[in-house]
Amino acid sequence: MIIILLGPPGAGKGTQAERLVEHKGLAYIATGDILRKAVKNKTQLGRKAREYMDQGLLVPDDLVVSIVRERLLEPDAASGALLDGFPRTVSQAESLDGMLEAGKTKIDLVFSLEVEENELIERLTGRRVCRDCGATYHMKFKPPKVRNVCDQCGGELYQRDDDSLETVTERLSVYKKQTEPLIKYYKAKGLLVAIDGNAEIDQVSQQMRAELDKLQQ
Ligand code: AP5
Ligand code: MG
Repeated sequence: MIIILLGPPGAGKGTQAERLVEHKGLAYIATGDILRKAVKNKTQLGRKAREYMDQGLLVPDDLVVSIVRERLLEPDAASGALLDGFPRTVSQAESLDGMLEAGKTKIDLVFSLEVEENELIERLTGRRVCRDCGATYHMKFKPPKVRNVCDQCGGELYQRDDDSLETVTERLSVYKKQTEPLIKYYKAKGLLVAIDGNAEIDQVSQQMRAELDKLQQ
């Protein structure tokens, strides 16, 4: 089973993925997380990716496609994967189609998480992430029990470098230009399911689970 989470920065892809992966036992592949880890470890990939990420721009397609190609071959992805933040351009989507065809598998469903722009800005600028386990919080919408401390592992919470207002504005504009065309791409293939992402976190999860359950009927 291959499920794609499509949506603008701050739509709640990571937040919902944490829950869906548990629910369905899928491998979780988030290109943003993989790239941030490479940046943190100062690998060759990380050094290249950082130039783009810091400006809110997309990392070149060839780099991202090869990350996903390798990741999909890992054993935990054999029974299915949830893709968060990939594909992000039509060219990436075409590469993914090729990969899946070669592996004799296919996309089952593409969720499009739809959220108002003002809400996206508030979500991104108030987001905090755990340095150790990556769990996501929000100062107002999902605060940790103790300020700046992760509920799950006790790690320190930090603000992502690309969550400043200036970079958020650029990321939203990049999304509109380069990623939004994928909505049409997947609609044409009959795979798109639009979800109202403005609702509360639990309500959004419920909508998504109900759609996934329909797939297996
Ligand atoms: P990536 O890490 O994928 O960032 P993004 O797409 O910009 O999305 P975010 O992670 O910011 O938002 P999200 O939708 O996951 O929201 P979240 O659940 O955290 O990519 C980062 C960068 O890497 C890119 O800019 C690019 O440079 C590069 N990159 C990655 N993939 C690439 C690719 N395929 N090609 C090229 N480059 C690539 O939620 C946000 C906040 O809102 C949180 O605080 C959360 O608690 C809160 N929240 C969530 N849901 C709700 C709700 N329903 N109500 C209230 N608050 C909520
Ligand atoms: Mg995310």
